[in-house]
Amino acid sequence: MAKGPSFTCTACGAVHRKWAGKCDACGAWNSIVEESPLTAGPKALGARGKGIELTDLATQEAPPPRAPSGMDELDRVLGGGLVPASAILVGGDPGIGKSTLLLQAAASFARTGLKCLYISGEEAAAQVRMRAQRLGLTDAPVALGAETNLRDILTTLDKERPALAIIDSIQTMWLDNVESAPGSVSQVRAAAHELVNFAKKRGVAIIIVGHVTKEGNIAGPRVVEHMVDTVLYFEGERGHQFRILRAVKNRFGPADEIGVFEMTGDGLQQVANPSALFLSDRDKPAPGSAVFAGIEGTRPVLTEIQALVAPSPLGTPRRTVVGLDSGRLSTILAVLEARCAIPFAGLDVFLNVAGGMRVNEPAADLAVAAALLSAREDVAIPPEMVLFGEISLSGALRPVSQTENRLKEAAKLGFTQAIAPSRSKLGSAEGMRVRQMPDLTAFVGEIFGAG
Ligand code: TYD
Ligand code: MG
Repeated sequence: MAKGPSFTCTACGAVHRKWAGKCDACGAWNSIVEESPLTAGPKALGARGKGIELTDLATQEAPPPRAPSGMDELDRVLGGGLVPASAILVGGDPGIGKSTLLLQAAASFARTGLKCLYISGEEAAAQVRMRAQRLGLTDAPVALGAETNLRDILTTLDKERPALAIIDSIQTMWLDNVESAPGSVSQVRAAAHELVNFAKKRGVAIIIVGHVTKEGNIAGPRVVEHMVDTVLYFEGERGHQFRILRAVKNRFGPADEIGVFEMTGDGLQQVANPSALFLSDRDKPAPGSAVFAGIEGTRPVLTEIQALVAPSPLGTPRRTVVGLDSGRLSTILAVLEARCAIPFAGLDVFLNVAGGMRVNEPAADLAVAAALLSAREDVAIPPEMVLFGEISLSGALRPVSQTENRLKEAAKLGFTQAIAPSRSKLGSAEGMRVRQMPDLTAFVGEIFGAG
C-alpha cells in the first residue's frame, strides 16, 4: 500500500499518486483532493488468511421477508417493502425533500410496529421535532437522535437494536480514526463502510441519506453506491411540486421503478395515479404537444411532450431540452432531416417534458418527433391521441415492450387513438383505435399530409 497521503478524485474515486488539475480516469477538472490513509491500514498482502466456507448454488434460501411501510409509493420502489439488514442510499439535491420523505417513512414504519431510529446530523432534535409537528407525525413512536459522531451512533444502535435506522446525512458523519473533515471522500467512504457492515452484521436495515453534487454524483465518490444494496434517487424540477423517487439499483427488486409524490404544505403526498396528474394541467390542443404513453418500472405513465420551433436569430440555433436526453433530440432531428427531408437548420428548438418528469425510454422517440413536427408545421396532434415507438437511424419504427399496458392506461384516461410501430403486440386494446406504422415517413404522411 502507498505510504503517506494519496490523491483521490471526488467524481470517480480514482486514486492518483500526485495532485493534478484533471483526473485522467474520468476527465473531471478540479476534482482531485488529498486524502490521508486510514490509520488502521490493511495488512500487507501475503499475510495468511483463514479459509472461507463454500456452499453450492442449490442451497435453499427463503425469499427475504419484507416489512412494508404502508406508503405504497415507497414500498413499490423498494421492491415490495423494506428488506431486513439491507443498506439503502437515498440521494438527491439539497432541499429536494429527502429529510421530509424519510421522516414520513420513519413514522410510517414505526406505526406498523417496526422499531425505528432517526439520526439527524444536519438538524437539531428540536428542529426535527418541529418538522414532525408540522407533518402531523408526533404520535409515531420514532426514536430521534441528533449526532454526527459515527462511533457514538453505532454504539447506540448496538444497544437499541432497531429494525431500521435512518442516517441523515452521510456527508455530516465522521469517524475519529479518519483524519479528514466530514464530507470528504475518505470520511464518506469510511462512514458508509462502517454503516453497511453494521447493517449486515447486526441485522439492522439502514437508510443512508446522501446529497448529490451538481454533476449528479453522490458527493464523495460513487463508491457508496457500490457498497449499498439499493440506491434510490429523489428527484424533481425546482418550481414543480412533483417529486419522483427512482430506484437506480436494487439487489432485492426491479430497478427503474418509480414512486411519485407531491410536495405540499403538509409534507409529501403520495400520487397513486401519476398519468392523471402529469396530464392534468394540459393546455387545450395546440401545435407542438404530443402525449407519450410510457412505462416507468412496472407502471404505465402518460406524459405530455411539448416542443417549440422558431426561426433562430443565431448562427448556431438553440437546442434546449428539459426532462429528456439532449443527444436523443439531436438524433431524432438528424433522422427527420436525413430520412424525411424535413430540415431544422436555422430553427431554434425547445423541448420539454411537462410536469417536471424525466423520460429515459427510447419508446418516447415517436412522441418527440411528433411534437417537433407538429410545432414546425403548426398542425396540432389530435388531443385524443397517444404515441409511442423507438426510431432507428434508418427512420424505421421499432416495436417497444408492454404495448398492451400502454394502451390500457391511455384508454383509462379517455384517449381513443394511438400510433404504434408495426409488428407491435397489441393485445386487447379495447376502445382504442391503433394505427401501426412501419417508419417515420409513413407517420409524417399520415398525420401531416405529404410532409
Ligand atoms: P428537506 O426535506 O429539508 O430537503 P433535503 O433533506 O433533501 O435537503 O425539504 C426542504 C424543502 O421542502 C424546503 O424547501 C421546504 C419544503 N417543504 C414543504 O414544502 N412542505 C413541507 O411540509 C416540508 C416539511 C418541507
Ligand atoms: Mg435534509
